Amino acid sequence: MSPLLSVKDLRIDYLTAGEPFTAVRDISFEIQPNEILGLAGESGCGKSTVAYALMRLHKPPALVRNGHILFEGRDVLSFGDKELRAWRWSEVSMVFQSAMNSLSPVMTIFRQFYDMLRAHGTVSKAQAQERIAQMLEMVGIPSDRMHAHPHQLSGGMRQRVALALALTLKPKLIIMDEPTTALDVVVQREILQEVLRLKDELGFSVLFITHDIALMAQISDRIGIMREGKIVEIGTTSQIVTAPKRDYTRSLWDAMPLLAQRPEGMAHAV
Ligand SMILES: Nc1ncnc2c1ncn2[C@@H]1O[C@H](COP(=O)(O)OP(=O)(O)OP(=O)(O)O)[C@@H](O)[C@H]1O
Ligand SMILES: [Mg+2]
Repeated sequence: MSPLLSVKDLRIDYLTAGEPFTAVRDISFEIQPNEILGLAGESGCGKSTVAYALMRLHKPPALVRNGHILFEGRDVLSFGDKELRAWRWSEVSMVFQSAMNSLSPVMTIFRQFYDMLRAHGTVSKAQAQERIAQMLEMVGIPSDRMHAHPHQLSGGMRQRVALALALTLKPKLIIMDEPTTALDVVVQREILQEVLRLKDELGFSVLFITHDIALMAQISDRIGIMREGKIVEIGTTSQIVTAPKRDYTRSLWDAMPLLAQRPEGMAHAV
């Protein structure tokens, strides 16, 4: 099977005053169709820097110094503006850590979906309304909430809306950067269950980023462990959980509260 996404020797620097800071050091990994790859590691190890670069959303002072990002074999780093606009959200989309980074506070939910739909093809208001209602209901939000502004919704609802927005154009890959960190455990569980259900229904791949390795083990097929800009270990979830090769990976497990250590049968059992 050829990979959906292939990242090769990716290096990203932040060009700040003085010496450039290398936040991502020559990392390589692949994501297969329909696969959930988890990316874990302590705060500041470079997870979000990778996520933004994959979507070509990185901005100065971040600079990709080296490497390739291939999406279905196409070289994402060489895309022109037009190609990028067509590709982003329709083939790969992102759910950010805070829904407020995904949603504009000044526009109604309807307007945000409508703008995205229109940017990717001709659509009437009535057609948009129907599609938005369908997407909101799919993530458990009553469709009449499309006329609300984000601040009129709870944090959990906003994150569901961000998920619906990310799924609307049926992308093949969704990048989720700490999608549930700001939410309480019950809502977090509900949303992740929703992601797994939708993945079965729609068929997409996920890059799931979190510093919560226990949560990651519950939903990922494979896990990559990052430290100081490098991927120090990558393998199947059961290998990373039960037979980590690196002391660092083991130390992440050891740092988990006892209850979270459920090595057996965790995958897809949120
Ligand atoms: N705009 C910036 N300018 C300079 N350095 C930055 C910038 N953004 C991030 N960095 C640095 O790059 C490194 C990686 O940051 P990044 O946000 O990718 O980490 P992360 O793994 O996502 O952390 P967290 O788990 O806290 O979200 C950090 O050392 C950070 O200080
Ligand atoms: Mg981050």
